[in-house]
Amino acid sequence: MSINDLDDYPWDKVTPYRERAEQHSGGICDLSIGSPTDPTPQIIRDALVEATDAHAYPTAAGSPEVRAAIRSWYARRRGVTGLTDNNVIPTIGSKELVALLPTLLGLGEGDVVVHPRAAYPTYEVGARVAGAAPVAAADPDEWPEGTKLVWINSPGNPDGRVRGVAELRRAVERAREIGAVIASDECYAELGWDAPWDTETIPSILDPRVA
Ligand SMILES: Cc1ncc(COP(=O)(O)O)c(C=O)c1O
Repeated sequence: MSINDLDDYPWDKVTPYRERAEQHSGGICDLSIGSPTDPTPQIIRDALVEATDAHAYPTAAGSPEVRAAIRSWYARRRGVTGLTDNNVIPTIGSKELVALLPTLLGLGEGDVVVHPRAAYPTYEVGARVAGAAPVAAADPDEWPEGTKLVWINSPGNPDGRVRGVAELRRAVERAREIGAVIASDECYAELGWDAPWDTETIPSILDPRVA
């Protein structure tokens, strides 16, 4: 398996269907790529402008200020306290880590990487880049013995499914049973619109009630 054997990205695969659908009157409702369209808030633009005098290579681990800000966000917004600098590392986007994690863990031929059934496609791509076998399975009881890495995603893309504390505990238990690393992609954690998640924090896998 090499990088040249990767399948087309799903957006490319749906292009012919989109072209066909667009020929119908009324066209299509295109939900394929959710690219941000809102203006960048001024506070972010100002912070970016102010930070441009950064004339040195950044450290991979991030500056002490960045790491402290990440820890403090976890405590304030995710109910996760007790993190140390050794528990956090910034990435440029979550895609970078999702695509690289199987390779960074040294996975390869014969190793299984589990990801949700309807899922962000990069979980599968990352497994394939490492030469491992992706398996789509949402329910922890379906995760095969010997799996090396499990991705969970709550709230889920594209289904919006939120895993509560009990479900997350079960996921962690099952990963421990089969000896898998469990990676929880929580990039939509602050988008809880429906009850109870509009008032209650969407649980993190690092929540003390979970792990
Ligand atoms: C579930 C999920 N994880 C990760 C990403 C990657 O996000 P980014 O690289 O913009 O941080 C996306 C983007 O669509 C996503 O839907």
